[in-house]
Amino acid sequence: MHIDIITAVPEIFNSPLQASILGRAQKNGIVSIQVHNLHNYSPNGRIDDYPYGGGAGMIIRVDVVVAAMRHLQHHRQYDEIIYLTPDGHRLTQALLNRLSLCKALLLIAGHYKGIDERVRHFVTLEVSIGDYVLTGGEIPALVLIDGIVRLLPGALSDASSALEDSFQEGLLGSPLYTRPREFEGLRVPDILLSGNHQAIAAWRAEQSRLRTLLRRPDLNPNLFHDEVPLPPKLAEETASQLGKSGPPSQEEEPS
Ligand code: ADE
Repeated sequence: MHIDIITAVPEIFNSPLQASILGRAQKNGIVSIQVHNLHNYSPNGRIDDYPYGGGAGMIIRVDVVVAAMRHLQHHRQYDEIIYLTPDGHRLTQALLNRLSLCKALLLIAGHYKGIDERVRHFVTLEVSIGDYVLTGGEIPALVLIDGIVRLLPGALSDASSALEDSFQEGLLGSPLYTRPREFEGLRVPDILLSGNHQAIAAWRAEQSRLRTLLRRPDLNPNLFHDEVPLPPKLAEETASQLGKSGPPSQEEEPS
């Protein structure tokens, strides 16, 4: 896969793209990622201007963004041209899965107040990473890239782990433990030490279902209808693991 990014602030991408799994995926030729400085596509170096109709903040000029896009499109055909914007389609695991099958993506990150509205005519997809406003589309672009690259074959050392993530199949992931076996009275569940792989897999599936029911029932309404009721002891156990007061409500801020 190849990913191009157009941004007014290319330095934001430096270390996130070099470190860890994203850095390794590029070194191993699984993905190539190129950051393009929007300033290079303006004849006079100015990329923004005052808003028509007045108001605070500067707006990135559509002609400069489209000049950058056209230059890149001259060299490559993109499956999607994605504008990161708070009013775009909410990013989901399903969208990441779909984008991970693409060969080439062009991402457009706005900064300052935003980009001239007319840029939307030149993109194929608008994506928001959530219902909040950040200072620009650069961090959302990194979120998108991270979510896509980890799905590419060979990016994660354990091939099966991306499929076992939270949100795949509309389920949250099951709890994970490592050594020590007991920490300040908190014990690793006995089943994980049993060596019975079938029983462990069944326990994990059940934990996953229970956690989804308790924390994010909105993800998978079928959980209420399709499955047999949970054994009360297991329900109790997981409820206490999740916190005595139960799951945070979707409206509440986590404390
Ligand atoms: N730019 C600023 N905030 C954003 C968000 N939440 N998602 C995508 N792009 C953005």
